[in-house]
Amino acid sequence: MKAFSKEFQAELKNLMKWRRDVRHFNTTPIPIDILLDCLNAFGMAPSVGLSEPWRIVRITSDKSRGAALANFKSANADALAGYSGDKAQTYAGLKLSGMNDAPEQIAIFCDDATTKGAGLGAKTMPEMRRYSVVSAIMSFWLALRAQGLGLGWVSILDPIQLRNDLGVPKEWHLVAYLCIGWPKQDTLTPELEKVGWEQREPALTQWIER
Ligand SMILES: Cc1cc2nc3c(=O)[nH]c(=O)nc-3n(C[C@H](O)[C@H](O)[C@H](O)COP(=O)(O)O)c2cc1C
Repeated sequence: MKAFSKEFQAELKNLMKWRRDVRHFNTTPIPIDILLDCLNAFGMAPSVGLSEPWRIVRITSDKSRGAALANFKSANADALAGYSGDKAQTYAGLKLSGMNDAPEQIAIFCDDATTKGAGLGAKTMPEMRRYSVVSAIMSFWLALRAQGLGLGWVSILDPIQLRNDLGVPKEWHLVAYLCIGWPKQDTLTPELEKVGWEQREPALTQWIER
């Protein structure tokens, strides 16, 4: 099995450390060849039964962008209404999407009805197709970061509304709405830690043995 050099291993760790969820972008466009190169990560990703169930929708029209932004604003207002006191105040101050400025926006769906892979591995756990899409997004995220690009994952959305607004098949389940662009700053600290919302735990606190 091919092993990678110590230098590469250190760089890979750096890449994982510096990956951030980014919500503050410069509006400078991303050269299409860089975007396409990063999207190649999907073609290398694992998937249950090699079903490759990801469906990628590049959001380019004002109509689609407007619909996604309105969707986010509505879902975010609903989410805010679920908090009270200090938590509500902190939530209201969070920037939870970069949809106003990210030069690239991509919706990623899982085709729950794909026949590719002939159902291998998905009979008892069909959700594995969606997990396959998530794992591919992770590769894409790191590929972008290696180019100095940032990705912000937006999940404060009504998925059925977005699917309808984009006019994609009803068998497609929304997995992620991704804002992509050049980050305004690099940081090692997640934004939610900076504002005191939540803290990252050391890696092995969730590890048990049986
Ligand atoms: C599945 C998923 C959905 C997320 N949805 C949102 C979101 O809707 N809005 C947001 O601001 N951040 C979202 N995030 C980003 C997380 O808040 C972020 O990953 C976490 O705070 C840790 O920060 P880091 O990614 O910079 O390490 C999401 C992340 C994941 C993995």
